Order: sequence, then structure tokens, then C-alpha cells
Amino acid sequence: MTQPLTLVVLSTGLDNFKEIRTALSADKRVQLLAGGNDAEQLHEEIIRLKPMVAIISLGAEAEQAIKFIERLSSELPRMAIISAANNLSPEILLQSLRAGAREFLRLPISAQELKTVLDRVAEFSAGQVETPKKKGRMIAVFSSKGGCGTSFIATNLAAATAARTVLVDLNLQAGDLPLFLGVNPKYSFADMAENRARLDDALITSFVTPYSSNLSLLAAPKEADSADEIEPEHVFEVLQKLRESYDFVVLDPQHTFDSITLAALDQSDEIVLVLTLDIPAIRSTQRALEIFDRLGYSRQKVRIVVNRWSKLIDVDLREVEKFLGEPVIGYVPSDYQTAVTSINLGQPLVQSDPNSKIALEIKRIAKTVATGAVRIQEDVQPRRKLWESLFKREAAQSLKLQTSLEKF
Ligand SMILES: Nc1ncnc2c1ncn2[C@@H]1O[C@H](COP(=O)(O)OP(=O)(O)OP(=O)(O)O)[C@@H](O)[C@H]1O
Ligand SMILES: [Mg+2]
Repeated sequence: MTQPLTLVVLSTGLDNFKEIRTALSADKRVQLLAGGNDAEQLHEEIIRLKPMVAIISLGAEAEQAIKFIERLSSELPRMAIISAANNLSPEILLQSLRAGAREFLRLPISAQELKTVLDRVAEFSAGQVETPKKKGRMIAVFSSKGGCGTSFIATNLAAATAARTVLVDLNLQAGDLPLFLGVNPKYSFADMAENRARLDDALITSFVTPYSSNLSLLAAPKEADSADEIEPEHVFEVLQKLRESYDFVVLDPQHTFDSITLAALDQSDEIVLVLTLDIPAIRSTQRALEIFDRLGYSRQKVRIVVNRWSKLIDVDLREVEKFLGEPVIGYVPSDYQTAVTSINLGQPLVQSDPNSKIALEIKRIAKTVATGAVRIQEDVQPRRKLWESLFKREAAQSLKLQTSLEKF
């Protein structure tokens, strides 16, 4: 079977267009997608339809047409451009080739010449197979309640991976991740969003703040004004570009279900849902899981991690798992002094004190989320009764931290 050859035509006059179209219709490979005499309009169509070939007839305004060829060839180097003209002056031929045209077609068209030209552009197009884009793994570290340690865990998870990783501060109004890494960012998410249409590896690297050879930070804007201008679509686009550039993209979003956070959570491969073992946090986690269900997220995407875990907290973890209907995949021990010291030093604990209990557990969690290992679904159905009784207890005991779920 012959490969189709998708094509657009910019012609200077109706006669010209008819002639080209009739000649093209004789070739079975050709699929004419669009045509016309308005270069700007055709440009939009070209960007949208991404044809393999563009025939640009030079006509009376050859200079304009040659500029158009130049623009197209720089924007879409994989598209083959054929210039066409009535008078084959060597000068025009040379100019159009210099501008980026691959072939030249004399008008009126000779069927044999057209076939030769189309054979050549078909050969060129066959060699232009787009290399599949890399897709790094995106992990959002989320809690619907503030202060549970999401920024601390996100930073340490990002620092624990041995691959190229970018940590993204999505708390756009009041991000504090530079403190966690002891860096002073020059650029922020706002710069990335503003330049999103032309982001490539080089530009991305210039906007992130390096921490180590593997880890960089994309900081939140310093001024709240620039944060206001960032729309969820911008976040979506920037994150897409980041995952084409990095092996891991670790997100630290806000603690609300605002549209920017949702854009980030939607796109993430995994959500590390962080909670502490107190009733408000457990309740908030249960609500977050319900919202995830309503958003259609697979439960396989969610990994629950308990932070500031201590034996002194009299809560039966199995009861919490049963209550949430999900297993807990990690228990980061509580050690305020160690955690705060690392934050104050601006160094992730997994690097400054890699053998501390917190660092060992975060490294273990990082391994699980990095591979995206599929969990074995255990029989942990939510238990309504427990939930109801939790509220009773909450009311009765004014949110006491030592609550043992087992007792209800
Ligand atoms: N495992 C831990 N043991 C003891 N303290 C911890 C632990 N993890 C985090 N902390 C402390 O909890 C505090 C809050 O941490 P962090 O800023 O990471 O939370 P957050 O959820 O990002 O809060 P925010 O609502 O400001 O976004 C910090 O002072 C940190 O040192
Ligand atoms: Mg935070």
C-alpha cells in the first residue's frame, strides 16, 4: 500500500490553484488538506494539520512567497516545501531553495515532472519519522491539609532519585521550596509559563535553579502578581514540557482542589497522599480520596504515606487503612529536630543525613513510587461505621491526638 502524502497549496490565483489541484488529483498518494491564496490563513491551517508537503506558488509577489517559505521551513523543518512558478528564472529558483524549498515545480505542470517531484518529497517525508517524545514520571506529593510535611517529603523524594529530576513548587502564591534546598532562584514558574510555546531543553534549563547535577527546582514566582497570571492551561503545558525533559517531575501543589492543583493532579502518574495520624488529617485524607474517586482517578494512582509517625501515637494503623480503604505504603518517623535542622540547613535529609530513620524510609518510598510498582490490592474496604464513630469521638473529645481508632 502506498503511503498517503498530505499536502497544502498556497496559490496566487484561482486558475493557478485549479491547475495544481487537477494535476495533483491524478496522483493516488496525494491528500489535499487545504489550499488558498491567503498566506496567514494557510499558515494557521498548516500548524493545525501538519501536512507532509506544502506547494507554494510564487506568482507576482515572489518575494513575499519566498519569505513565507523561509518562515515555514524554520517552523516546520519536517515538512517538504515545493515552490512553483510560471517563469523559471534561475534567480528565483535559487532564492526559493535558499529559503528552504526542497523542490521546484514549473507551471504549467508537466505530469512527468510532477510525479518526479512528488516521488522525491515522498522519499523525504518517509525519512522524517518523529522520534517519540520522552515521558518522565510525574509524582505529586499532596495533602488536603496544610502542615503535614508535604514540602519536606516532596523535596526529599526528589532528592532521593538517582535520575534527572525537577522539583516544582506549585504553591504559586507563597512557595517556600527554595528554603528547603538553600537556593536563590532567579527565574520562576511565571517565566516558564510566559515562554511555554518555545520551551526546549535549553530554555527549560535556563529557568530552573540547579541544586545538584541531578536535581533542579522550578520555583514559584516571587511576586504574587505574576502568579495571578498563570492559568491552569499554562500549568498543563509547562508540566508536559518538563516531563519531556526530565526523568522525574515531583510536584508540591497547594492543599486545595483549585484548578491549578487539579491540572497538576490530573497529569500526575502518581499522587503521594500525605497525612499525619490525627483526626482532622485522617478525615481530610478520606475526603481527598472521595474527591479523587469523583474525579475518576484510579486508586492505583494514589499512594498513602503517613508522616510524623510515632509509636507514641495510639492509633492502630490497620484500622486507619481499613477506614481509608487503602493501604499505607510508608511511615515516615517523627523526628522534629532532624527534620527542622535539615530544612534550616537548606539540605534534603536524604543527602545530609542519609542514614537517619526519616531518610531511610523516604528512600524506600522513593523506590516504590519511582518504579510505579503495582500494589497488591488487599481487602481493605472502607468502613462507614468507623467513620461515623470517628465523628462522635471527635465531637466528644475535641479532636484529641491520642485517639485510637481501634477503640470505636
Ligand atoms: N517526619 C517529620 N518529623 C518531624 N517534623 C516534621 C516531619 N516532617 C515534616 N516536619 C516538620 O513539619 C513542618 C511542616 O513541614 P512542611 O512545610 O513540609 O509541611 P507542608 O505540608 O508543606 O506545610 P504547608 O502547609 O506550609 O505547605 C516543618 O517544620 C517540618 O520540619
Ligand atoms: Mg508546603
